[in-house]
Amino acid sequence: MAGAIEYKTLRQMRAMREAALIVDDIHCALRESVCVGMTTAEADDIAARVLKAAGARSNFLGYYDYPANICTSINEVIVHGIPDERALEAGDIVSFDCGAVKGGWHGDSCFTMVLPSDNPGDAELIAARERLSQVTEQAMWAGIAAMAWGRRVGDIGAAIDDYVTATAPDLDIVLDYTGHGIGTSMHQDPDVLNYRARGRTFGRTPRLKPGMVLCIEPMLTRGKQDNRVLDDDWTVVTNDGSDACHWECQVALHEDGIWVLNRRDGGARELAAFGVTPAPIG
Ligand code: MF3
Ligand code: CO
Repeated sequence: MAGAIEYKTLRQMRAMREAALIVDDIHCALRESVCVGMTTAEADDIAARVLKAAGARSNFLGYYDYPANICTSINEVIVHGIPDERALEAGDIVSFDCGAVKGGWHGDSCFTMVLPSDNPGDAELIAARERLSQVTEQAMWAGIAAMAWGRRVGDIGAAIDDYVTATAPDLDIVLDYTGHGIGTSMHQDPDVLNYRARGRTFGRTPRLKPGMVLCIEPMLTRGKQDNRVLDDDWTVVTNDGSDACHWECQVALHEDGIWVLNRRDGGARELAAFGVTPAPIG
């Protein structure tokens, strides 16, 4: 990644929150408008409009020549699906990974939704996909909470791993993609693993210190986590074709605690269940 960890001041965190909340605005616009029959290219257009209105630009577009504003990952696609003319179908599970740069600071977060269906025959599949999304989201919140109580970056992945093992041992955690630091660039040190690193492989992870801003982004699968990249050099799919899911938040750690930058309440609503109260950055 990008070398040394970039520690931010409270003022810099507040500046980065602007970018993170623009990404939240994209998520809100997508939640309101995504429906069966819409193409993922249309979803990309919605993101482009929100970015433009906010005076921001996408940090994905052009990143290693990535050709779109957001990533849309459907069903067996784990991450980095490229928006195109494919129409969303009833029962699809789709993650919307979105980013923004504003004033030199980066935002990056992702949510997943399952599209409704009128067909009773889809009910079982939809329930399984909704459970996959709920467990992935809650695993993310467990990881975020660990950023508040943990001592090292590795405590985040351990909390994600423990949450999944305790609540849904049938689901797999994708090992090949990680969370990351974020700031004046999108991907910075440290890597944030989504699992408990055992043994000597990784050594000790960095200490969790005030000034860190991390993207915590678990990816889970309903089958095996083994995956490959398609010929477009981006789209990551499960080898067994099983469903995948991805959630991501961008979290600041400061002297008084943590604040989820892409949430207007700092994550208070969801963190309550984990006994964590976010601390405002002013
Ligand atoms: N949110 C993605 C990540 O952290 C960033 C995707 S960059 C793109 O991995 F170029 F693939 F879009
Ligand atoms: Co990310």
